[in-house]
Amino acid sequence: MIVAIDGPAGAGKSTVARAAARALGFQYLDTGAMYRAAGLAADPVSADIRLEDGRVLLDGRDVTADIRTNEAGERASVVAARPEVREAMVAKQRAIMAAGDWVAEGRDIGTVVAPDARLKVFLTASPRERARRRAAELGTDVATVLADQTLRDERDRTRAASPLQAAPDAVELDTTGLSIDEVVARIGALVPS
Ligand code: DC
Repeated sequence: MIVAIDGPAGAGKSTVARAAARALGFQYLDTGAMYRAAGLAADPVSADIRLEDGRVLLDGRDVTADIRTNEAGERASVVAARPEVREAMVAKQRAIMAAGDWVAEGRDIGTVVAPDARLKVFLTASPRERARRRAAELGTDVATVLADQTLRDERDRTRAASPLQAAPDAVELDTTGLSIDEVVARIGALVPS
């Protein structure tokens, strides 16, 4: 079974998807980490990207920390707009999730990677709330994050290849003002048994 969790940066996807996977006893797939690794690669299409025990490996090199900078997020957003990069990532993601139960997090899980997912959640939060969360994570100021986030959201939403959008059958969940536990409980209640 696949639970798809999509939405813009800072909506709480990573924290929520990881916690939901733990609560459900499912495996967790962070597809953003794959685009971030691709953004650091000399050749994003043929790069060997692996997610192993919570570590991210790019051509055998551990890039777990390197992919979390603001610059790496920016580079990820740029390579993620290239159709041939998306094609390579989607193929890898489908292969990873071919067996077992998964909570997968990204932008196009419910629309492209796993259109047959049993549950699709589209997480949102107000732009200011999203920037506040990211700034706390990165240890930078909210104004800078908000400016970068606005640009990146715009690029992710308006690109021709798999733009960020909710699948028609996704449940939209606004996490502004909700705790992680509240969001995870709502998702848990939505998972068909
Ligand atoms: O979720 P994140 O911030 O780690 O994602 C980094 C970038 O990768 C983001 O700009 C959008 C892109 N991305 C994507 O296009 N499709 C996905 N399934 C996941 C991430």
